[in-house]
Amino acid sequence: MSLVFAINGQRFELALSSVDPSTTLLEFLRYQSPFKSVKLSCGEGGCGACVVLLSRYDPVLQNVEDFTVSSCLTLLCSINHCSITTSEGLGNSRDGFHSIHNRFSGFHASQCGFCTPGMSVSLFSALLDSKSSSEFTVLEAEKAVSGNLCRCTGYRPIVDACKSFAADVDIEDLGFNSFCKNTLPPFDNEKRVCSFPEFLKDEMKSIDSGMHRWCSPGSVEELQRLLQGARKANSVGLSVKLVAGNTSTGYYKDERDRHYDKYVDITRIREMKEIRETQNGVEIGAVVTISKVIAALKEIRVQKMFGKLAAHMEKIAARFIRNFGSIGGNLVMAQRKQFPSDMATILLAAGASVNIMSLSRGFEKVTLEQFLQGPPLEDYYDLVLTIEIPFWHHQSSELLFETYRAAPRPNGSALAYLNAAFLAQVKDRMVINCRLAFGAYGTKHAIRCKEVEEFLSGKLITDNVLSEAITLLGKSVVPQEGTSNLAYRSSLAPGFLFNFFHSLIITEKPSSNGYYHLDQPKPLPMLSSSQHVPINDEYFPVGEPVTKSGASLQASGEAVYVDDIPAPANCLYGAFIYSTKPYAKVKGISFKENSVVPDGVLAVISYKDVPKGGQNIGLKFSFGTEPLFAEDFTLHVGQCIALVVADTQRHADTAANLALVEYETEDLEPPILSVEDAVKKSSLFEIYPFLYPQQVGDTSKGMSEADHRIISSEIRLGSQYFFYMETQTALAVPDEDSSIVVYSSCQTPQYVHSSVAACLGIPENKVRIITRRVGGGFGGKAVKAMPVATACAVAANKLQRPVRTYVNRKTDMIMTGGRHPMKITYSVGFKSTGKITALELEILIDAGATLGLSMIIPSNIIGALKKYNWGALSFDFKLCKTNLLSKAIMRAPGDVQGTYIAEAIIENVASSLSLEADTVRKINLHTYDSLALFYKDGAGEPHEYTLSSMWDKLGVSSNFEERVSIVREFNESNIWRKRGIARVPIIYPVSMFATPGRVSVLSDGTVVVEVGGIELGQGLWTKVKQMAGYALGLLQCDGTEELVDKIRVVQSDTLSMVQGNFTGGSTTSEGSCAAVRLCCETLVKRLKPLIEKSGGPISWNNLISQAYAQSVNLSASDLYTPEETPTQYLNYGVAVSEVEVDLVTGQTTVLQTDILYDSGKSLNPAVDLGQIEGAFVQGLGFFMLEEYITDSEGLLLTDSTWTYKIPTVDTIPRQFNVEILNSGRHEKRVLSSKASGEPPLLLAASVHCATREAVKEARKQLRMWKGVNDSELMFQLPVPATMPVVKELCGLDIVESYLEWKSSVN
Ligand SMILES: Cc1cc2nc3c(=O)[nH]c(=O)nc-3n(C[C@H](O)[C@H](O)[C@H](O)COP(=O)(O)OP(=O)(O)OC[C@H]3O[C@@H](n4cnc5c(N)ncnc54)[C@H](O)[C@@H]3O)c2cc1C
Ligand code: FES
Ligand code: FES
Repeated sequence: MSLVFAINGQRFELALSSVDPSTTLLEFLRYQSPFKSVKLSCGEGGCGACVVLLSRYDPVLQNVEDFTVSSCLTLLCSINHCSITTSEGLGNSRDGFHSIHNRFSGFHASQCGFCTPGMSVSLFSALLDSKSSSEFTVLEAEKAVSGNLCRCTGYRPIVDACKSFAADVDIEDLGFNSFCKNTLPPFDNEKRVCSFPEFLKDEMKSIDSGMHRWCSPGSVEELQRLLQGARKANSVGLSVKLVAGNTSTGYYKDERDRHYDKYVDITRIREMKEIRETQNGVEIGAVVTISKVIAALKEIRVQKMFGKLAAHMEKIAARFIRNFGSIGGNLVMAQRKQFPSDMATILLAAGASVNIMSLSRGFEKVTLEQFLQGPPLEDYYDLVLTIEIPFWHHQSSELLFETYRAAPRPNGSALAYLNAAFLAQVKDRMVINCRLAFGAYGTKHAIRCKEVEEFLSGKLITDNVLSEAITLLGKSVVPQEGTSNLAYRSSLAPGFLFNFFHSLIITEKPSSNGYYHLDQPKPLPMLSSSQHVPINDEYFPVGEPVTKSGASLQASGEAVYVDDIPAPANCLYGAFIYSTKPYAKVKGISFKENSVVPDGVLAVISYKDVPKGGQNIGLKFSFGTEPLFAEDFTLHVGQCIALVVADTQRHADTAANLALVEYETEDLEPPILSVEDAVKKSSLFEIYPFLYPQQVGDTSKGMSEADHRIISSEIRLGSQYFFYMETQTALAVPDEDSSIVVYSSCQTPQYVHSSVAACLGIPENKVRIITRRVGGGFGGKAVKAMPVATACAVAANKLQRPVRTYVNRKTDMIMTGGRHPMKITYSVGFKSTGKITALELEILIDAGATLGLSMIIPSNIIGALKKYNWGALSFDFKLCKTNLLSKAIMRAPGDVQGTYIAEAIIENVASSLSLEADTVRKINLHTYDSLALFYKDGAGEPHEYTLSSMWDKLGVSSNFEERVSIVREFNESNIWRKRGIARVPIIYPVSMFATPGRVSVLSDGTVVVEVGGIELGQGLWTKVKQMAGYALGLLQCDGTEELVDKIRVVQSDTLSMVQGNFTGGSTTSEGSCAAVRLCCETLVKRLKPLIEKSGGPISWNNLISQAYAQSVNLSASDLYTPEETPTQYLNYGVAVSEVEVDLVTGQTTVLQTDILYDSGKSLNPAVDLGQIEGAFVQGLGFFMLEEYITDSEGLLLTDSTWTYKIPTVDTIPRQFNVEILNSGRHEKRVLSSKASGEPPLLLAASVHCATREAVKEARKQLRMWKGVNDSELMFQLPVPATMPVVKELCGLDIVESYLEWKSSVN
């Protein structure tokens, strides 16, 4: 018996007996096939990096159905007789790229590229779905990638690339791209990729033998026989797993490591895969996928309820999960494992029932309610066969049906805080009967609120009736103890109930002022955008919006990341064992008793394996060294204790999960788990004086000049995780003579190099670190990549075999951490006008257990905070050494906190004076003189200070004043939604660093460039190519205009290019360009005499041939060192954001953001635009969405895509306008350019500030209802301002308060 399938048209046949049925499609693709374009990022169905197209042939209907699936959850055995298409199957560098790849490139929609293959396949599938391309609309285009995560681009260009295929789009309406009208690479539906090869059609046969560990019965009888056999065998311990889509393993991850003797694929059972419409309703087979259920329900037009069920189901997970996950699987998860299901809740309200086949009880039909309440289904003894949804007969009454869900992402890909569905039969506004279902709020399973149903039945709805119903509801919808956001979840229920019934309210006074009006939740407005991008051709091709180097290669998935490098022979794989105790003695490491440790486990590498002569060093940097493995004591949760090494990554990961570290805490001091505790115990890191920022002016004097003072106000800020799509990874290969080569995904090859050499105790000339490209870094692959590479090197050295590690998402999140949390206490003095005269700060920064790069945080905080003229500024920083995870430097480290602190202070001052925050911001903006006082040399020349004019310019272009009035009017006439608008400036100092480069010209005239900087997605290679093109182009011989196409930037290799320094701080692209320019100048000098000698025009190729003939040195290297003063310059930007807050759910929609950013003379405005938008959206994640929650000992609890929510397409500004300002020439900057990598992240503070404005309005209204004065308007909106946070500030009891107020005014 064999498993036959095709990948990208290539046939694969595997003996079924040789396949471990728990193997996923992704594992096969990445480790056993040549097709590496699918990427592993989360391994749990939550990101879309691994999406492939699955095509299945139906021999009866003779048609092929194509749909996307997440290959990380799909089992290989499930794809028998299927065809898989990956992004490189759509097109590639050999056969020509697909138009999708070209459009991603042309729309500048791929930065690091790690998400792009998955995005490409998702888009391709959406295009196939629309039966002909003319039916693909912009609406579908926007949804095409809605479950795919991208951490780099901010999604706008991706959505535009998708929309460019829509029949109803005008390319002129799309965002900035490299296509002229009518030059879009066409998507030819006729010539489309053949997703299902003919040969597979002929091979289709059943593979149910029942003999193998994987079997696929075709009928219920067959299954029954099989299970009965298994039941008998169970007495001797045989374990069986029923498999439908297997997507549940994305949630129940332990399931993957469980060993089953038999896997029974139930998806081919005829009776279970049909959808039948009967007289009484619809009967749906349990293995029907959610996507198919949606399609079928949409077809049933007799009752609106079905359309509403379908619409709700479209918010379950992402399309690539719905395409494979079944309705039955979902209900079984809900029934057996308390999964917070949407399906269970909505079907409960719809009155569904379930047909079960039980080995012990036979066939039975139960209501969904009985099903959910019953004892958990027994593993494979009980089988859900079908689900029935009834038609509701309601001749004499009206049928109302609605569903609700509140979730961090409006369009799905996020579990709900609470979901609900209500059905009511109503006659003459009287409720005859109703079904009210609630779920996912921290309950065992979805419930019906019978008490409320009974109470409402037979009643006319009035405010009082609704109030009573809500009171009753409060007793039913009670989350279990320990549920997160408990009060918030409960508070949603009254809102939903109110929303459902409010239209029936009998009121004596009809609504005239909109007070009784409550809209149904509306779909999000479509995304739209505009970009104003100046092109500067002074240094052509520098300044051109050239598309990203290698973007199509990234889209097709051929671009090689560290984990794509084919495994060398005998390669082993590592997985980290990390500490789960903050401070404890490590007594030993073993594997859990009675656990089945995979056979392939070879070694557990710890500090004891550091070779003689080496040191236990995982990180060597300018500020010192840090240990690789914990020795006798662990210093924080997440500390590396050991590396398990096994024959496969899966075995290594499984073994690491089974590891048991024995700790002892007796007689030890309690760990330091807060900054306050660290201060109390004087556990502080020193800050070198030269890194300590300088105070400005005299704050005591400033305070004495103030009319008002706010004393000792407190702010707390938490962390943010990088969420690069490619997790930490390295491959270490031992080489001759005790040397070693390490492929590392890092931003700091030079320091990885020193760390490996120091740890192994070998000279640095025996170490070589190679980094080609990195799948997103954001600072997380600076310091934190070093121990990963070093651990692989230690293991490879010990075992004398190659060792690679691709850290799984959870471990990465727990061990890498993120931003520095901090506590800020401030006192501020100000005049009655809002002019601030003095600011005093005390800031306690949690650096964690080791120093890392934390010493730069204080100056970064102050650098960004000084964007306002505080009059005088003083501060006291304490860098706290705690027993918490060492913090890393994440994009705009300290700067984003600095900007936020400034805004929080401004808002506080404005509130206390009852002034508009915008007025207080403006009055405190710097003049050039005050800027020079605060930033000294960094302030540059007066003409370089563009911020105050940018403030006004954006005010005009965004229509700020007018929109303020419109927002005010909106807030006056809406009680359930409030809007806010805010304009925020930023100043961001950056420093230039020494950076090396080498340019070599080969005999055919092509050019190879090496630079110290690493391509992380930020477009460094592209800018470097342009610079080389410009600088060599100065030779002005024939053909130099096309030189850019002949230039290739190659991987960083620490033995070839020394002093690579680090890639970070936003200026590495500029530094690398400057180095390349120096090299080119040398080459130009060497080549010029040949041109002069030639006496006439000469072509580039000729010139190079002559140079080769005359042995001219055509390789030049150089080290760019910035001029002494200033090595620092300031970046400026302003953003206006407008938001709308839904007071019932606390959901914030960013309606519009307008950004004006000064890029100097941009080296590549397309790249800079991508950086601006991407950074902004990452900042939006920090301010609004990403909850970094730990337990009391510091262990990260939000450690997966299920709980850690980065922005998705549906959470970015609906209208996103960016203008790049092309400010003037500057001698001392690289071709007058400015940085764009980090500063724009700070602009996202505008969304937070706008949200605070909206919340302020909500609070005003609530206090009016409650009859209290508005002194409470001085409040702080925490970061991130998630839905629960916003709702809590708007009033968890808002509906109850409204009803009470209404009854009091009536
Ligand atoms: C990333 C992600 C996000 C999600 N978000 C949501 C969400 O927001 N809301 C929501 O409601 N759901 C959500 N889900 C759940 C999703 O709907 C389920 O994973 C899916 O429906 C399960 O179907 P399956 O066919 O893959 O089940 P499987 O994984 O194959 O099976 C699930 C379990 O049920 C058993 N089983 C399967 N079918 C039967 C049957 N017919 N009879 C008896 N036992 C059976 C299996 O043995 C297994 O134990 C999400 C899932 C993922 C991966
Ligand atoms: S890796 Fe499969 S969805 Fe993230
Ligand atoms: S380009 Fe999307 S994750 Fe980097």
